[in-house]
Amino acid sequence: MMTIITTQIPLLLLLLLSLTTFHKCMSINDHKLVRCNEKDKETLSIFRKGINDSFGLLSTWSTEKDCCAWKGVSCDNITNRVTKLDLKLSPYFDPFRTSTGEINMCILELEFLSYLDLSDNDFDVISFTTIQHNITHASNLFYLDLSDNDLQMDNLDWLSPHSSLKYLYLSGIDLHKVTNWLQAVNTLPSLLELQLSYCNLNNFIINPSIEYLNLSSLLTLDLSVNNITSQLPNWFFNLTKDLTYLNLRDSNIHGEIPSSLLNLQNLRYLELSYNQLQGSLPDGISQLPNIQHLDLSYNKLQGSLPDGISQLPNIQHLDLNSNMLSGSNIPSTLENLSSLNYLSIGGNNFSGEISENTFSKLSNLDWLDLASSNFVFQFNLDWVPPFQLSDLLLSNTNQGPNFPSWIYTQKSLQSLDLSSSGISLVDTNKFSSLIERIPYLFLSNNSLTGDISNLTLKGDMLYLNRNNFTGGLPNISPNAGGYARDVDFSYNSFSGSIPHSWKNSKYLTTINLWNNKLSGAVLEHVSDWTQLGFLNLGENEFSGTIRFKMSQYLSVLILRANQFEGTIPTQLFNQSSLFHLDLAHNKLSGSMPKCIYNLTEMVTLTREDSFVYGTLELFTKGQEYYMEYADSIRKTIDLSANNLSGEVPSELFHLVQAQTLNLSHNNLIGKIPKTIGGMKNLESLDLSNNKLSGEIPQSMALLTFLEVLNLSCNNFDGKIPIGTQLQGFNVSSYIGNPNLCGAPLNNCTTEEENPKNATPSTDNDSIRESLYLGMGVGFAAGFWGICGSLFLIRKWRHAYFRFVDGVGDKLYVTLMVKLNSFRRNRAPANEGDSSSG
Ligand SMILES: *[C@@H]1O[C@H](CO)[C@@H](O)[C@H](O)[C@H]1NC(C)=O
Ligand SMILES: *[C@@H]1O[C@H](CO)[C@@H](O)[C@H](O)[C@H]1NC(C)=O
Ligand SMILES: *[C@@H]1O[C@H](CO)[C@@H](O)[C@H](O)[C@H]1NC(C)=O
Ligand SMILES: *[C@@H]1O[C@H](CO)[C@@H](O)[C@H](O)[C@H]1NC(C)=O
Ligand SMILES: *[C@@H]1O[C@H](CO)[C@@H](O)[C@H](O)[C@H]1NC(C)=O
Ligand SMILES: *[C@@H]1O[C@H](CO)[C@@H](O)[C@H](O)[C@H]1NC(C)=O
Ligand SMILES: *[C@@H]1O[C@H](CO)[C@@H](O)[C@H](O)[C@H]1NC(C)=O
Ligand SMILES: *[C@@H]1O[C@H](CO)[C@@H](O)[C@H](O)[C@H]1NC(C)=O
Ligand SMILES: *[C@@H]1O[C@H](CO)[C@@H](O)[C@H](O)[C@H]1NC(C)=O
Ligand SMILES: *[C@@H]1O[C@H](CO)[C@@H](O)[C@H](O)[C@H]1NC(C)=O
Ligand SMILES: *[C@@H]1O[C@H](CO)[C@@H](O)[C@H](O)[C@H]1NC(C)=O
Ligand SMILES: *[C@@H]1O[C@H](CO)[C@@H](O)[C@H](O)[C@H]1NC(C)=O
Repeated sequence: MMTIITTQIPLLLLLLLSLTTFHKCMSINDHKLVRCNEKDKETLSIFRKGINDSFGLLSTWSTEKDCCAWKGVSCDNITNRVTKLDLKLSPYFDPFRTSTGEINMCILELEFLSYLDLSDNDFDVISFTTIQHNITHASNLFYLDLSDNDLQMDNLDWLSPHSSLKYLYLSGIDLHKVTNWLQAVNTLPSLLELQLSYCNLNNFIINPSIEYLNLSSLLTLDLSVNNITSQLPNWFFNLTKDLTYLNLRDSNIHGEIPSSLLNLQNLRYLELSYNQLQGSLPDGISQLPNIQHLDLSYNKLQGSLPDGISQLPNIQHLDLNSNMLSGSNIPSTLENLSSLNYLSIGGNNFSGEISENTFSKLSNLDWLDLASSNFVFQFNLDWVPPFQLSDLLLSNTNQGPNFPSWIYTQKSLQSLDLSSSGISLVDTNKFSSLIERIPYLFLSNNSLTGDISNLTLKGDMLYLNRNNFTGGLPNISPNAGGYARDVDFSYNSFSGSIPHSWKNSKYLTTINLWNNKLSGAVLEHVSDWTQLGFLNLGENEFSGTIRFKMSQYLSVLILRANQFEGTIPTQLFNQSSLFHLDLAHNKLSGSMPKCIYNLTEMVTLTREDSFVYGTLELFTKGQEYYMEYADSIRKTIDLSANNLSGEVPSELFHLVQAQTLNLSHNNLIGKIPKTIGGMKNLESLDLSNNKLSGEIPQSMALLTFLEVLNLSCNNFDGKIPIGTQLQGFNVSSYIGNPNLCGAPLNNCTTEEENPKNATPSTDNDSIRESLYLGMGVGFAAGFWGICGSLFLIRKWRHAYFRFVDGVGDKLYVTLMVKLNSFRRNRAPANEGDSSSG
């Protein structure tokens, strides 16, 4: 699955717009007299010295005499003193062109500074040389944003003079050493908004002399994505009565939700997802009259739904849980729940019945996530909900065998996830028109059947994999949005060839057709898919040659187990992004291309972010592994079980980052070059069942990560080089080479033994490796089309990687769907500066 949403075009437009605006401002300022205060100018100049402005973003800071005209600087019209410094890098700007270096906090000595925004750069040092005790004036600072730099801070005591701060954003700054962060912010009585997301905060400890925090003005608090590793203290929700936005997502918070939550009567947005919260929900949640966004998903909460959400204004039902709510306020609570538009409680251990009554009051509901839960769903067949959802997540729930008919009434669905929900029966007409229009459709792993070849699917993400669809593939319409588009129809019984309509889908980034009964010659389509990063056509009956032009972004190419014939085109070895190439079990013949191999990705060290969504079967170490995504850490070349002949080009052994190399079951001849010793990441090497000859090079003993080696059934001779590595494999790795000797095979006779001082050419290899490493930067730019938007939206990028680190598929889908709603500008303003625009 590919998450990536290519937004370059609008971004470029925005960029152009902002540049034009910027130039306008500049030219107005040009005509003004110099009015900059000398003292301010001096402070700014000191600040400027710390910055490494390698991209000239601050070029005006030296050429303009008037510091009030410097980029980002604003002065007061009357006093002419500097009041504002805004060097925030637009998130839509090229993220590789940032200011770096030091933030000298002497900048806070600007007497009249009220607004300071240095966010979204790559400053990596912050210095507080003298400012701590030297601020004699009362601070005017009300807005401070240093978020999303590469900073680390040991303490936040420097904040205390700035008691007029209303907006404080330090997200993305590593604060794990700041043990008293709560006290530090507690010194800021005027604070309205506090964002400390991605700060690596690790405690909720306050000095025992403070009874509880008193941030009495606070309206917005974002502590998401930290590593608190403790319970929410009982006083936590006593922070302030006025809080409207609270985000504690993914912060490693344990324990129960304190009932003091009820103190937050103005709360509109409550996000507690992806923590370790347990126990049942406090009654309080149903008594929060203004709540609009409630996300408790992916915790360990249990019990049945709290009254306010699940209750009917129906006396029997109320009685069941009357111990939880006092009778008098229930009707009004329910009345007020009608403001709820976002309800996400999936991924817990809730149980009980969900029926149409549960939702009878929720007419504004827009997002509903009950995925991965144990609820029993009881909806009447003719239920028409009071809401029109845009996003519905019901995966891993037990819905089947019938497709829930109420979903057909939802006319504005943007995303629907019914994966693994046991559905086999649909109303063909209604189902057809539903799936034709939904942009983000996840119906994986059900038992859906039928022929959908006459449909034209309009979605950008189409996951129909692991069902029993038969007949031809559906058409897909050319998508007008210009966003990335993923189709996964793997593990079905689709037959016939790829429909012609697919050709026009220019933004296809992931195509997964693995394990169907598709046939014909695909390949003239491929050159039209210029954004393609992942192509998996394996386990089908495709035929013809593979002479086609492929997208420069292609990272994964799997043609395994088809009927492809002819030679391997040279071009395949010039795909600079390719890191997974699986052509095994075809009828490919001829010799492998001899050329300068330009598989840049196979020789570069992997950046953390090069991976591609799309499930695949990874064949390595003699086994098959199911992967949820293709991680470029696992670089693979598998050409096994074809009719390849001739010598193995030595260039293949220069792909120093490859982890799996399988050339077995071909008719290859020649020797293993000693350069193989440079393939230091090799974990699985299979050259068996060829006609390879000569000695096994000594340098192979350098392959310290090698776990599986198969050189059997060739014509290797001489002695197996000594080295723990090669002796560690058992006989079967070497068997079938009559002239090979030495442990673990039989002892060599003196004739057989013929040691030629084969010292590994590590020097050459490492030179070559570093050469290729140098290509990394250019490569990164090439990868832009695939990873671009993730760079732009840093917070999402973090979240995304956390997913990749193994949180699970569900998070991904949720994320992806969230990203989608994000894009539709429905996220609350404080969800991230990156949403603006
Ligand atoms: C300034 O930044 C550039 C690019 O990031 C880097 O190559 C250079 O070494 C930096 N210079 C200093 C003095 O840090
Ligand atoms: C200062 O000037 C800006 C435009 O240059 C204007 O928008 C703003 O209203 C002025 N403020 C005062 C207090 O005059
Ligand atoms: C700041 O204060 C320290 C000690 O209080 C003093 O040594 C230093 O000179 C002061 N710096 C400035 C710039 O005033
Ligand atoms: C909290 O702070 C406000 C304003 O600073 C003050 O008026 C109030 O008394 C404080 N409350 C407590 C319980 O400390
Ligand atoms: C979170 O903190 C705990 C202990 O404080 C530590 O063991 C763990 O590695 C941390 N997790 C992350 C993701 O930093
Ligand atoms: C929280 O505040 C409420 C009233 O505002 C008070 O009754 C309660 O004792 C406080 N809880 C804690 C743990 O301080
Ligand atoms: C419910 O909402 C209405 C209007 O927003 C408000 O007047 C009423 O006080 C609320 N009821 C409760 C119990 O908060
Ligand atoms: C889920 O809740 C049930 C009781 O409702 C309990 O038996 C079960 O152990 C819980 N599962 C987990 C994983 O906590
Ligand atoms: C498919 O769904 C079933 C339940 O319907 C589940 O047990 C299984 O793990 C799912 N398989 C995959 C690959 O998601
Ligand atoms: C598809 O459409 C054609 C022509 O309209 C029709 O003959 C055929 O039966 C349809 N196939 C399916 C599976 O509905
Ligand atoms: C290798 O790939 C890079 C980047 O795609 C390209 O600039 C270069 O021309 C290629 N070299 C050859 C020999 O094809
Ligand atoms: C191989 O040679 C070693 C000594 O070099 C000897 O101990 C061992 O018994 C021999 N093994 C065989 C199978 O001949």
